[in-house]
Amino acid sequence: MTEPGTAETLDEADFRSVLARFATGVVVVTGSTEDGPAGLTCQSFSSLSLDPPLVLLSTARTSKTWPRIERTGRFAVNVLASGQRDLSDRFAVSGGDKFAGLDWRPGVLGNPLLPGALAHLECAVHAVHDGGDHVIVVGRVRALEAPGLDDDSPLVYYRSAYRTLSG
Ligand SMILES: Cc1cc2nc3c(=O)[nH]c(=O)nc-3n(C[C@H](O)[C@H](O)[C@H](O)COP(=O)(O)O)c2cc1C
Repeated sequence: MTEPGTAETLDEADFRSVLARFATGVVVVTGSTEDGPAGLTCQSFSSLSLDPPLVLLSTARTSKTWPRIERTGRFAVNVLASGQRDLSDRFAVSGGDKFAGLDWRPGVLGNPLLPGALAHLECAVHAVHDGGDHVIVVGRVRALEAPGLDDDSPLVYYRSAYRTLSG
């Protein structure tokens, strides 16, 4: 892509490659569903409001996991550390038992918390809005935890690849 796109000429590849220049952290959103623990990898997470304490993320309408979590009315956000690429990949596949052989523990709201994460937030589903081919999920934070860890550097996603912070 060399020319700036306009509303008329925007194509999907340009949209993806330009937006991929916005670096983010990586989280795994988990829930305790009627079929057991469930989760999916997301980069669309951000802080929204301090009073009341709200966070947001967006999930694709094709997600198999989010609708199951939404039905429980609550979810956890696990902020991944730089050494957790495998965990990100594990939760970025659709279907199957993503928790097989995985060590996890329930948080105070009962949502699965993943060991080694930089931070855990447990939320109530506050609102779900239309977001085109995604839905925008607003969560009201009910519990927070930032464990002391040896690896306190975040996993970063930038231009479709995992990175770590330098400098
Ligand atoms: C680094 C990374 C970030 C991702 N961010 C999101 C996201 O913000 N929203 C989303 O819906 N999918 C995101 N995905 C893709 C989902 O994790 C993937 O589609 C997954 O298969 C969904 O699983 P499900 O169908 O079980 O819900 C991301 C994947 C990766 C590797």
